[in-house]
Parts: sequence; C-alpha cells; structure tokens
Amino acid sequence: MSFTSETVAFPQDRTCPYHPPTGYEPLREGRPLSRVTLFDGRSVWVVTGHAEARALLSDGRLSADRTKASFPAPTQRFKGLQNRRAALLGFDDPEHNAQRRMLIPRFSLKRTAALRPRIQQTVDRLIDEMAAGGPRAELVGAFALPVPSMVICDLLGVPYEDHEFFEGQSRRLLRGPETADVEEARRQLDAYLHDLIQRKRAEPGDGLLDELIAQRLETGEIDVEELVAFAVILLVAGHETTANMISLGTFTLLRHPEQLAELRADPSLISTAVEELMRFLSIADGMLRVATEDIEIGGVTVRADDGVVFSTSVINRDASVFEQPDTLDWHRPARHHVAFGFGIHQCLGQNLARAEMEIALGTLFARLPGLRLAAEPDRIPFKPGDTIQGMVELPVAW
Ligand code: HEM
Repeated sequence: MSFTSETVAFPQDRTCPYHPPTGYEPLREGRPLSRVTLFDGRSVWVVTGHAEARALLSDGRLSADRTKASFPAPTQRFKGLQNRRAALLGFDDPEHNAQRRMLIPRFSLKRTAALRPRIQQTVDRLIDEMAAGGPRAELVGAFALPVPSMVICDLLGVPYEDHEFFEGQSRRLLRGPETADVEEARRQLDAYLHDLIQRKRAEPGDGLLDELIAQRLETGEIDVEELVAFAVILLVAGHETTANMISLGTFTLLRHPEQLAELRADPSLISTAVEELMRFLSIADGMLRVATEDIEIGGVTVRADDGVVFSTSVINRDASVFEQPDTLDWHRPARHHVAFGFGIHQCLGQNLARAEMEIALGTLFARLPGLRLAAEPDRIPFKPGDTIQGMVELPVAW
C-alpha cells in the first residue's frame, strides 16, 4: 500500500467552520498516518487514526521541544515562536512534569467546581448587558471573548482592565500575520506580565500568580522568567481557545436546530453536548511533535527527526471509533475525543474550559430563547486553518 498523499497541504482552511477542511478528504480514507506537505515544502506525517493518535501522544519518543532543528513549522510566522519555548507545551519530561506539578492542584475538578458560581455570575452579567443593549449584538465581543477572559483574569489575578491589551497581543501571537508580529507580541506579553509580577511582589493579591510568587518564586524554586512563561501560557491558552469554542459552538447550535431544540428541552444534556461539540469542532486542529527515535506504528515507520502533526478534526471523526462521525449527536459517548490533546500535554485547563462552556452556552440559550444569526451564515467570517478555529465575528439577534 502506498502512503503518499504529499499533494495534500497542511494546514488548510475549513470550508465550513464546523467541518474538517474538504481538502483533508484524502486523509480520511482509512490510513491512520499519511504524508502531507507543509508551507515550506517539507513532508511530514499527519496522524488521523484515533488509536494511533492516542498511542503516539503518549509516546516518549515524540518530542514537543520546538527548539529542535527538525521540529515542524506549520506556517512561516511559527518560526517566530521556535526559539522561545512555551512553558509546559514546549517541554518534554522530566522538566515538563516538574512544571505541571506546580500548577495541577489549581486546575483540579474540585477547585474548578468551586469557581462555577463566579463563572455563572460573570455570564449572567454579560447577558444582562447584552439584553439591555439588544435585540442585536456581536457575540464574540459581547460574550464569547469576555467570559473566558474575565474568568482567567480572576483565576490568575490579572487586572481585567488590561484585557484589550492582552487580548490584542494574544491574537497577534496566534495569528500574526508576520513572524515579526509574533515575536513582538511575545515580547509585549512577557514585559507586561513581568511588570505585573513585580507589582504583585510588592503588593500581593489572591490569584494563582500571587500563590506562585509566594510558594515557588520567593522560595527560589523557580525564577522570574519561568514564572512569566507560566503566566503567558495560562493567560493566552486560558481565554483564546474557550472564546472560540463559545462562538463556534453557538454558531454550530444555531445551524443545527433539531439538536438545539433537544438541548433546550432537556438542559441536563449540556455536559454531554459540550463534549460532543468539542469532538465535532476540534478547534485546536494541528498539534505538533518531532520524532526522536524510529517508531513503528499503523503499518509505517516514523523515522527519527520526522515531523508529526495531529489533525484533531480528522482523528475525532475516525469512523471506527465514532459512528456516523459527521453527525452532531448528544447521545454518543464522545469523551474519548482528543480535542484537549492526550498524554502528558493533555489540556491543563480542561475542567475549567468545560465549566465555562457549559455555563456560557447553557445560560445563553436559556436566557435568549429567540437567539438567531443576524447575517447570512456563509457571510459570517471564521478563522483560517493555521490557527485555533472559531468565529471572527458573530452577529446575532433575539
Ligand atoms: C475549549 C478550550 C480549550 C481547548 C480546545 C484546549 C486545547 C488544548 C490542547 C489540544 C492542548 C494540547 C496541546 C498539545 O498537546 O500540543 C492543550 C494544552 C494546554 N492547555 Fe488547553 N485548551 C482549552 C482551554 C484551556 C484553558 C481554559 C486553559 C487555562 C488555563 C488551558 C491551558 C492549557 C495548558 C497550560 C496546556 C499545556 C499543557 C501541557 O503541556 O502540559 N487550556 N489545550
């Protein structure tokens, strides 16, 4: 059997914001790994089989260290991030494990459940404001972005007054357009959080950053640069991703009236619905690794130094695991999707993200029963394939 599909470029833009790019169709034909071509002409493996993805994401022979020369770059601007390792995401064990252990208690199911009343208050307040200014709104700016942004500020102890600054820099970090933008955004975020940490040392508050200052920084376990790196990843990953799930989740529900009606009739479906939306939308579509040794998997050999990308949108529609994968179905077991990743780097904030999505989507549709799109669906802009997927804008009315 031939494993070449080098003609398939990766990543590609979606044709419909909630389906994998139609250009990935050749990758969905049963092979668990294929070859694809990156923007710079480099050929890498793309993993599309669910079992193989979980095996490889737990395999210590794949590295997440993007400073390695053979680490794959999905876009030109990604090169702007390659010389600076993101905390957690850019490290392999044992360093990764030491970092993760410092943060994990704050993201446990129990600690996250305790944040629910605050999340509910935030969501209620934003919907009150939207309703008062209605009956139309641009949902990304009025709701999808402020919910996770306020929640992560609260959790970290970052002042929400600064949201325009850090949201803008995060957008630039993830979407460029140029390498220079990415580098500058990273510098700006580093400088901002460095300054905030210094202010907090003088005047402590009660956020996670304050806790890390007292327990890890002042004790000498980590230095300021390491703490800044934690703060950057938590602040950026903590709002951009969830905001996209809320905007794209809302759009998808409004485009699936039967499933929406079912959810409205039985609000207890919300947590399984969120899981199914995570699977269906797979917004972080293209995790990256490099092999450090030869690995036999799925009938092929991934060679040392080969680049490996994971197309979560295709993996989460593996028909051998998810029956009728292109259908949105609240009744299927979907929790074994890999939309939060898998293995040692599996999303640290997943409990928090689930709580936010359940409360935000559940409350939005309960409070605004007449919610509808206020523009032609195919004219509403969504994000390009080389970044986290989601809506750029979402005009709604009720
Ligand atoms: C629905 C929203 C979210 C999605 C879809 C998402 C997705 C992901 C994925 C796919 C990974 C693994 C990346 C890889 O293996 O290369 C990841 C890791 C991570 N996520 Fe999330 N995430 C979300 C929300 C959050 C939130 C709210 C936080 C808050 C703090 C967060 C923090 C992190 C961190 C720190 C990592 C790195 C973990 C590690 O390397 O050990 N994420 N996320």
